[in-house]
Amino acid sequence: MILSQRPTLTQYLIDQRRRFPQASGDFNALILDVALACKAIAQAVAWGELGGVLGRQRDGAADAINVQGEAQMRLDVLSNEVFLRQNEWGGQLAGMASEEMEQPYPIPQQYPRGKYLLVFDPLDGSSNIDVNVSVGSIFSVLRAPEGAQQPGRELRETDFLQSGDRQVAAGYAIYGPATMLILTVGNGVAGFTLDPGLGEFMLTHPDIQVPCDTREFAINASNSRFWEAPVKRYVDECLAGREGPRDKDFNMRWIASMVAEAHRILMRGGVFLYPRDSKDAARPGRLRLLYEANPIGFIIEQAGGRVSTGRQNVLEVQPDSLHQRIPLVFGSRNEVERIERYHAEPVAREFEAPLFAERSLFRA
Ligand code: AHG
Ligand code: MN
Ligand code: MN
Repeated sequence: MILSQRPTLTQYLIDQRRRFPQASGDFNALILDVALACKAIAQAVAWGELGGVLGRQRDGAADAINVQGEAQMRLDVLSNEVFLRQNEWGGQLAGMASEEMEQPYPIPQQYPRGKYLLVFDPLDGSSNIDVNVSVGSIFSVLRAPEGAQQPGRELRETDFLQSGDRQVAAGYAIYGPATMLILTVGNGVAGFTLDPGLGEFMLTHPDIQVPCDTREFAINASNSRFWEAPVKRYVDECLAGREGPRDKDFNMRWIASMVAEAHRILMRGGVFLYPRDSKDAARPGRLRLLYEANPIGFIIEQAGGRVSTGRQNVLEVQPDSLHQRIPLVFGSRNEVERIERYHAEPVAREFEAPLFAERSLFRA
């Protein structure tokens, strides 16, 4: 095949850097290393059963469990290793943090330290690996605090506890029918499709915009009995369709890979909710702030969408721990704003728990 006229990821990054004549090139090198990690993971995922890396991670005789108390898949662990090895050596980072590691990962002694921090979910949607449904990797780039790159200074959890609006860049790779990389460096959102022959990410989606309106929502409806009243009201009104107050029919989707839902929403609009619920009092939400909600939120905002806890902009939340969970709503601006309004308004009687349960559309 003749080389297409599309810019590569490298060309895109160089073009973006021209806005900052002083830039050292470290940032671009970092993004290219992250992209290479994603290509390696894409390859491992694509081999499926033939690669011999599917299934549960074993810890001796038992299934391995990560810091979140969730079963680890072999590909979770492998993807984490790929991210660490590919990004530790280049001198751009002062440290990393991942869903799969309880503590932050300091840069090994033999490598220089740099001015950025990398936070990631190496494989999102693990429960879908064995069923050949799209999974992805999510990453967020932060500036390391002053002094954190000095040799001898130990890496601290607090170095990473920065609100989402301080992200320098964020992105995800989706391992679907095609592998794509979606990236924001704070100047809109660009989408790249992997050319498997060249091994290059080609710019195919130069300025992604999330439509303001939608007729599609995504929520795990099996949790409906644990939802708060504003969420019940929102979903109930969607389900009521043309006969209800929204006066239009909605579609529901749930892939259980947030990356895949985010991607669908970026491509054609929609709203995603993993709200706070009462299923487990110790958990204020399902998804993690630093390596799921913040990077996806930054991308969605840069594409003209909105991201919220229901009560405030996610990107303004000051994190208090590395693996903190957060209620998450994102997508088409007008829907997210409506959900925020429902959280701010007093709760109508009918949506208070017991009554709602009687008349809920989820019940016969
Ligand atoms: P991970 O595989 O990184 O632990 O994340 C899975 C997340 C997210 O991708 C998805 O939206 C959600 O968990 C699925 O939750 P349910 O199991 O409630 O469907
Ligand atoms: Mn995840
Ligand atoms: Mn994960």
